[in-house]
Amino acid sequence: MFNYKILGILLLGIFSKSFSSILTCSEGWNLHGSKCYKLDPEMRNFTNSNKFCENLNAEMMMPKTAEENSVLSEIGLWFWMGLIDHNKTTALDWTWNDGSKLESNDRWKSGEPDNKDSPEECVISCPTGWADVPCTGIKTTVCQKKPGIIADEDESVTLTCDVKYEENITKLFWTRSMDDTSVIVSEYAKGGNVTLPSLVFEHVKWTDEGLYKCHVTTISGLTLTDETSLFINATNMCPCRCEYRRRLEHWGSKIIPNKSQEELLKELESELQKIKKELAVNKTQLSSSIRRRTSAPDKRKSSETMGLAGAAFICIVVGLVVVADLLSLVKFVKSTITFWNSKKIGEKAKDKKRKIFDINKRKTQTSESSA
Ligand SMILES: *[C@@H]1O[C@H](CO)[C@@H](O)[C@H](O)[C@H]1NC(C)=O
Ligand SMILES: *[C@@H]1O[C@H](CO)[C@@H](O)[C@H](O)[C@H]1NC(C)=O
Ligand SMILES: *[C@@H]1O[C@H](CO)[C@@H](O)[C@H](O)[C@H]1NC(C)=O
Ligand SMILES: *[C@@H]1O[C@H](CO)[C@@H](O)[C@H](O)[C@H]1NC(C)=O
Ligand SMILES: *[C@@H]1O[C@H](CO)[C@@H](O)[C@H](O)[C@H]1NC(C)=O
Ligand SMILES: *[C@@H]1O[C@H](CO)[C@@H](O)[C@H](O)[C@H]1NC(C)=O
Ligand SMILES: *[C@@H]1O[C@H](CO)[C@@H](O)[C@H](O)[C@H]1NC(C)=O
Repeated sequence: MFNYKILGILLLGIFSKSFSSILTCSEGWNLHGSKCYKLDPEMRNFTNSNKFCENLNAEMMMPKTAEENSVLSEIGLWFWMGLIDHNKTTALDWTWNDGSKLESNDRWKSGEPDNKDSPEECVISCPTGWADVPCTGIKTTVCQKKPGIIADEDESVTLTCDVKYEENITKLFWTRSMDDTSVIVSEYAKGGNVTLPSLVFEHVKWTDEGLYKCHVTTISGLTLTDETSLFINATNMCPCRCEYRRRLEHWGSKIIPNKSQEELLKELESELQKIKKELAVNKTQLSSSIRRRTSAPDKRKSSETMGLAGAAFICIVVGLVVVADLLSLVKFVKSTITFWNSKKIGEKAKDKKRKIFDINKRKTQTSESSA
């Protein structure tokens, strides 16, 4: 099981993040340094401990760097590490679970490794360093996992594809999912292909949130994946955006499965008409409510209603922006076919947006002068 060949390990870049984004771990996992760790107190032998981590889609703790080694005692004591001696005859042939060799021997507890209960082919973390012990012993488990990223909207974010492979890659692509639904990866993201494996967002948007998975296929057909969660801290997000987000994702999920262009167009067409109608209705509702509200003489009341109207304006404007997004989504997928209707709606949406902005500006001025 751990009989790895000497691999020409190539790491497709290491995890990187932009300056103000922060790392986060899922529930039950703790961030120490740049990785998420989980200590499980149940006692297991090495094999079962390794299985436990694999079942969590994680790996056993591998403190390869000095930074990672320095957090051992923060995490726990006497737990298994993902390090094993593959060669029963020669000492110090230590290999990490990912197939790479142990490079430095300065982290052992003094006197270790001693192979005292020969064979001692597994390693545990002790208060004063590492120690070799028999793999049949029972210890607690620490698993490690790549953290998720929380980024602010408009920030630049790079998601790296951290897979180890020993052969040339023939295929590399990214997928994104949201609430277990497949959604498309932003057309504005760069890279995510064989030549540039990392996925680069120059200006990340709240719609880019999701669980990203990098899929790598090597020349012999071996498939490897690596996943990262991306959360966007959109602090001034209008609550009505969620509605559009759901709609966008609903349609995004329809695009992933194999559908003929005609089928897709048919479905999208009716939806676009519906959105168009809704926007037209809401616009008239809005203008009549503005007229009513601006003529209200009571200052306090008017500022209250103006607040409501303002919120409605923002929602409509944001709505239009998302409709424009939806259209560009359609355009992206259907780029080869003429889709003049969507373009027309897009232009109309822009006109409407401009108008609403103008009205909104006037409203703000009125509200300022009346305040
Ligand atoms: C252990 O190492 C020795 C010397 O490097 C080598 O001859 C032997 O084949 C190795 N055994 C295994 C099981 O890898
Ligand atoms: C660990 O325990 C399982 C049974 O729970 C056993 O099958 C396996 O051989 C053990 N592994 C080691 C290395 O002791
Ligand atoms: C891998 O790619 C390099 C450069 O494209 C090529 O020279 C080499 O032959 C390839 N190796 C295999 C096993 O296809
Ligand atoms: C990979 O992505 C980069 C950046 O988006 C792009 O410039 C390049 O043409 C792409 N390469 C391939 C083979 O698609
Ligand atoms: C989200 O953004 C707000 C305002 O910019 C900031 O105060 C907060 O710390 C951010 N939270 C995270 C998790 O980045
Ligand atoms: C979609 O269909 C094409 C051919 O029609 C096929 O090559 C491809 O594998 C299919 N993709 C999926 C995800 O089913
Ligand atoms: C328009 O108003 C209706 C109800 O009046 C609402 O269901 C719909 O979501 C609104 N549409 C937009 C785009 O605001």
